[in-house]
Amino acid sequence: MTERGRVDAVRGVSLDIVAGCFAAIIGRSGSGKSSLMAMVGGLSRPSAGRVTVDGSDIWTLSENALADFRNRRLGYVFQFASLLPTLRLIDNVALPAMLNRRRPAVEIYARATELLSQLGLGDHLDAYPSEVSAGEQRRAAISRALINDPSVLLADEPTSDLDEQTEIEIMDELLAVNRDRGMTLILVTHNLTLAEQADQIVHLADGAVVT
Ligand SMILES: Nc1ncnc2c1ncn2[C@@H]1O[C@H](COP(=O)(O)OP(=O)(O)OP(=O)(O)O)[C@@H](O)[C@H]1O
Ligand SMILES: [Mg+2]
Repeated sequence: MTERGRVDAVRGVSLDIVAGCFAAIIGRSGSGKSSLMAMVGGLSRPSAGRVTVDGSDIWTLSENALADFRNRRLGYVFQFASLLPTLRLIDNVALPAMLNRRRPAVEIYARATELLSQLGLGDHLDAYPSEVSAGEQRRAAISRALINDPSVLLADEPTSDLDEQTEIEIMDELLAVNRDRGMTLILVTHNLTLAEQADQIVHLADGAVVT
């Protein structure tokens, strides 16, 4: 709902994404991809309908339970820059794990270092977001999304502003986590070659699934 009235960004979508699979969401700009991701990711409540993720009917959870569910089970890479500017990259990546206090800080920081290094940022651990490139910020955001070993990674055009080689490298990392750890990967992309590698393609047009 906005001041200008109701906008149905997504309507009548019925969709099953198999656990552990790689699903690609495609569709033109404005077709509802980010809106759908926000509903699946527990960020934007649908006005009607149900979303079940990893066995939980997420929109029936209390606010606190939903926040905890998002923190522990879901990883997000947003379409736009989302790092906290006053924290170093390493702190940005560690933050979601520091918040739930399930592991000692030393262990969390070791894992954050490992993730950033895997994504080619081992030399920039202490840099602030403004001191690295947009692509490097993206890779830090991906590391942050993986720090709590989520069951589902929601990635909204995570490589859209990057060169082709970097895109391939980042996708290789995401697909390795999908394959090796059984993490469900839901990827919004405009890259059809990439989408064709998915186990499942969801094509949206005007907020609905095209079959
Ligand atoms: N907060 C909002 N208020 C009003 N309308 C919105 C809002 N967010 C999205 N919309 C509208 O909902 C529709 C779907 O938007 P959405 O961001 O989901 O598209 P998208 O498929 O992710 O597009 P893109 O490829 O450009 O990222 C668009 O028509 C958009 O204008
Ligand atoms: Mg979008």
